[in-house]
Amino acid sequence: MAETISSAVSRRRTFAIIAHPDAGKTTLTEKLLLFGGAIQLAGEVKAKKDKIQTRSDWMKIERERGISVVTSVMTFEYGDNVYNLLDTPGHEDFADDTYRTLSAVDSAVMVIDAAKGIEPRTLKLFEVCRLRDIPIVTFVNKMDREARNTFEILDEIEEKLALDTAPITWPIGQGKSFAGTYHLAENAVRRGDDEAERTKVNGPDSNRVAGLLPENQRAEFIEELELAREACRPFDLDAFREGHLTPVYFGSALRNYGVRDLIEALGAFAPPPRAQEADSRTVQATEDKMTSFVFKIQANMDPNHRDRIAFVRVCSGALQRGMKAKLVRTGKQMSLSAPQFFFARSRITADEAYAGDVVGIPNHGTLRIGDTLTEGEDILFRGVPNFAPEILRRVRLGDPMKAKKLREALQQMAEEGVVQLFIPDDGSPAMVGVVGALQLDVLKERLNVEYGLPVDFEMARFSICRWITADTKLELERFIDAHKGDIARDLDGDPVFLAPHEFGLNYEADRWKQIRFAAIKDYQ
Ligand code: G4P
Repeated sequence: MAETISSAVSRRRTFAIIAHPDAGKTTLTEKLLLFGGAIQLAGEVKAKKDKIQTRSDWMKIERERGISVVTSVMTFEYGDNVYNLLDTPGHEDFADDTYRTLSAVDSAVMVIDAAKGIEPRTLKLFEVCRLRDIPIVTFVNKMDREARNTFEILDEIEEKLALDTAPITWPIGQGKSFAGTYHLAENAVRRGDDEAERTKVNGPDSNRVAGLLPENQRAEFIEELELAREACRPFDLDAFREGHLTPVYFGSALRNYGVRDLIEALGAFAPPPRAQEADSRTVQATEDKMTSFVFKIQANMDPNHRDRIAFVRVCSGALQRGMKAKLVRTGKQMSLSAPQFFFARSRITADEAYAGDVVGIPNHGTLRIGDTLTEGEDILFRGVPNFAPEILRRVRLGDPMKAKKLREALQQMAEEGVVQLFIPDDGSPAMVGVVGALQLDVLKERLNVEYGLPVDFEMARFSICRWITADTKLELERFIDAHKGDIARDLDGDPVFLAPHEFGLNYEADRWKQIRFAAIKDYQ
């Protein structure tokens, strides 16, 4: 029997993992899937022995295969809950991909290396989460190695991120003597993830805890725990959901410690699918009618099928196989005949998906990033961001006869979010913009392999690009008229101002106070 929408919604947790490279994101992902009884992942778990296959890191395998950056969606169940883990590319050159993925999650797990603390990329990703008020659960990994003092780790999170911490578990020992986690509020111990349940104890001085630690560390542990109880903040669900406080867990993904604690935390505290802002109203996750938006497009998921998959986050209602949906941007109906659930590298047909679920919709270029699909209502979701590129290049084509083909190919790549495309108003050749240089490599490779278009990139006269808006159309047009050679249009036809350098931008911004120059554009 199909479950009711409200019960389906309340069971769902959709999240991403944010981490600096090497902190253990991949290892933790594997263990979440392992302990999360990801039945559909049987093949995947087996493939773990051949570790490279489970890595979704583009740098390591996708590049060799000449296909694009993968953001996998992994679904698993634990207890009564359904978890959707949205994986993000490891390399920072694909940061915009990561940011778009964060627009489709309700919470995030921040993985920190216990010896290294907060690293630069953790900080950056954390800031994106904060912009979006995404609640964060912290997992301090690698406790089986030499780690910093536990209080020091908590202090660093508080100071560097300006985020309150509430340790929920406390590590029992560390390094070679790391022996499990102690749940502060429950007074319960779990030695490792082989233990499905925690064992209640009388307190940190109980025999069971003592038995886990070398004799010379027992007194210190008891003292630490007392101090933690006195000095650390208690967990506050509202503060967590508002993004002001993070519950902290300790463990070792590699050695199977603390992973169950973490899954249980997501089940207990992480928010179910949120209400989603649209242009004219807010859509509640439990509404009957299906709404969803596209946050990612992936081409060639399966090299044997040259398909294009739009990853859609369901925001309300039930997305059912075979249903008709309205693509609000064009007003056209499309049939969702083969929606798919993804399980890392395998996929199955999705019969029904609810708010929080991520479904892949095969299509031939109909869907774009930021698109809204509904059962008929004319609403547009906002919030999938577009970041001003850091690098602008003109694309140079060896064979001028293929200019039209190139334009089409670039348009497709831009719709997929591989690059951004800017068409200058003055008729000069199109420009592509990227956030990281590796995106240019992907573009070059794909144009060559998929479209038979060998290209090179030329420096452009411009290095800065800003979306321009004003309160009135007239003001905007005046600016555009006065800067004809420096204006281009993005994929949606929205105008951008191009400047050779920061100074040039500031100069114009000073002179044209009525114009807003934006480095981020939310897709609509
Ligand atoms: P990432 O995706 O965040 O980049 O990290 P990944 O999981 O690949 O982990 C980076 C390295 O840290 C790997 O070792 C991994 O085995 C190790 N690691 C992850 N979690 C733990 C942990 O809890 N404890 C310890 N001691 N090590 C951990 P590597 O040698 O770089 O890679 P590999 O050769 O093992 O794949």
